[in-house]
Amino acid sequence: MNRIGSLRRIGAIAAAVMAAGALVAASPALSQQQGKLKVGLMLPYTGTYAALGTAITNGFKLAIEENGGKVAGREIEYFVVDDESDPAKAPENANKLIKRDNVDVMVGTVHSGVALAMSKLARDNNTLLIIPNAGADDITGPLCAANVFRTSFSNSQMGIAMGKVMADQKKKTAVTITWKYSAGEESIGGFKETFEAGGGKVVKELFLPFPQVEFQPLLTEIAALKPDVVYAFFAGSGAVKFVKDYAAAGLNKTIPLVGPGFLTDGTLEAQGEAAQGMLTTLHYADGLNNPKNNAFRATYMKAYKVEPDVYAMQGYDAAQLLIVGMNAVKGDTAKRAELVAAMGAAKLDSPRGSLALNKGHNPIHDIYLRKVEGKENKYVSVAIKNLTDPPRGCKL
Ligand code: BEZ
Repeated sequence: MNRIGSLRRIGAIAAAVMAAGALVAASPALSQQQGKLKVGLMLPYTGTYAALGTAITNGFKLAIEENGGKVAGREIEYFVVDDESDPAKAPENANKLIKRDNVDVMVGTVHSGVALAMSKLARDNNTLLIIPNAGADDITGPLCAANVFRTSFSNSQMGIAMGKVMADQKKKTAVTITWKYSAGEESIGGFKETFEAGGGKVVKELFLPFPQVEFQPLLTEIAALKPDVVYAFFAGSGAVKFVKDYAAAGLNKTIPLVGPGFLTDGTLEAQGEAAQGMLTTLHYADGLNNPKNNAFRATYMKAYKVEPDVYAMQGYDAAQLLIVGMNAVKGDTAKRAELVAAMGAAKLDSPRGSLALNKGHNPIHDIYLRKVEGKENKYVSVAIKNLTDPPRGCKL
């Protein structure tokens, strides 16, 4: 499906949702008065993270359709920008939505570097922003803002969880490997913090520029270092190639490869045998047995004919959060203070389990340990319950 292909799926989604009996009554008088709600989707639809952008878009639209195709009685008009996961183009791309299209809310993005630029523009222009993936720690830390929300995670969270799991398993030495930008660096930082606090030692940190995938020289270095474990942050098509190259080099036979769940989420079809048995930590797992997740997975599958992944779930929750805020002000975005207060206080019934936000508007949620079995990231245990970030200088 191409980047706007999901728009054509709307009919199918609506049918699926109606079949699930989930339509909610709208408020025609109000919607006519206030006009359409302009939603700007700034996501990657090409490049390494293209599949992630599409899944987020699908998840977001699914939640809107479940709400009758409207938000607080207002129809939606979508404005779509492909950000290409390119931080250099981010200010221009975000300004298309803010200044040219005059959107009521921006939803984006996947890449932390792009999201840092987007959140600056959102702050400067007081545009409502919901981040459905990018985990840059600072956005909900020192750079936090009343109008900026995140329904995904912060980058250090998954590393913190896996560092603890590996220290508990009495692993003594680790090598880390990632792309050199904030997502990878912060993920590794979280891992190092808890792994070393638990008695382990990160003996080498390996980097390559985003989105390069020439892993061979670094795999040779890992083979020579012989650590007890390798912790890697990669996602999208980069994760597919890294996991396959690691196995092709025979390293998976002697040195377990672990990481945040992005290493194996939405990628198992392509990774196949190479990913089997891998342990990862994430705020989602395929088979989470709660009513919301069961319904979400069934409806998503019916609408899009593919299994949802963590990115689809985060997009779904971005729309759920918007709906809570908009319902609180009966669709009147001018009531900004009430709208953001309602979003900040939201308690969402998320497919991941319960979802609340901390002071900086970052998720407080359980982080799960998962194991790859066949084409599933199977739930193993709760690695950390109700993980929340420290304030990190957020002044809200
Ligand atoms: C990030 O850049 O923040 C990111 C990208 C893909 C997966 C997870 C995080």
